[in-house]
Amino acid sequence: MLEVEKINTYYGLSHVLHDLSLSVGKGEAVAFLGRNGAGKSTTLKTIMGLLRPQSGKITMEDRDITESEAHTVALNGISWIPEDRQIFTNLTVFENLKISRFPIDGAKHLDDHLDWIFSLFPPLKDRITNKGNQLSGGEQQMLTMARGLGTEPKLMLVDEPTEGLMPAYIETIQEVLLEIQKKGIALLLVEQNFRMALSITSRVYMIEKGVIRWEGASSDLLEDRETRMRYLGV
Ligand SMILES: Nc1ncnc2c1ncn2[C@@H]1O[C@H](COP(=O)(O)OP(=O)(O)OP(=O)(O)O)[C@@H](O)[C@H]1O
Ligand SMILES: [Mg+2]
Repeated sequence: MLEVEKINTYYGLSHVLHDLSLSVGKGEAVAFLGRNGAGKSTTLKTIMGLLRPQSGKITMEDRDITESEAHTVALNGISWIPEDRQIFTNLTVFENLKISRFPIDGAKHLDDHLDWIFSLFPPLKDRITNKGNQLSGGEQQMLTMARGLGTEPKLMLVDEPTEGLMPAYIETIQEVLLEIQKKGIALLLVEQNFRMALSITSRVYMIEKGVIRWEGASSDLLEDRETRMRYLGV
């Protein structure tokens, strides 16, 4: 479904992604692991159209999105959950969720969508009139993910969803990621918590200094301490 072929991405003169290729199948859950600064977020941003690769090709369901802007990529079925939780902090939870539905139907038919969102994230229901900046870190992460579901994606690019969260919230996020998969939504998941990532994905790519160094089954990497030590240090 998503095919990334030999992309090279730069920040100015700094060459960050080197002939990077990966793919995600329909409904597939794939982990994307690597040390700090390896290029994980850069890869997700390049797929999302927020950074332009200097060469290489990105297709979604055979449509070339290499040169597409982020809103076009979103309309092609990809949503991005950034690591820095880009919610509207001065708008309420309801307003944040409503905005996420504009690309679909102008937010005219919100009820069914909100029912689903609140079944995934019950705490958000109690917070519906609260502004983004009144939410805890865990609630903000839930809202970020809920917004990402607004465009009815076929693939979610999720960047470190459990970073800085309390264990109770980490469990919620993990459950939601599994629920999302049950709906047939594919995942490309960046996570420092490799055990969590491997337990909810079937396949994994390992990136080091902008190069994919290893790929295989998540279950194999769970058993393979040597490979984990080499590329993750854990
Ligand atoms: N806006 C930027 N301008 C210049 N260099 C950048 C920029 N953003 C990231 N980099 C550099 O690109 C490389 C890859 O960064 P990236 O954020 O993709 O790593 P990451 O794997 O997501 O790391 P982390 O686990 O810390 O989030 C790093 O060397 C980083 O310093
Ligand atoms: Mg990152």
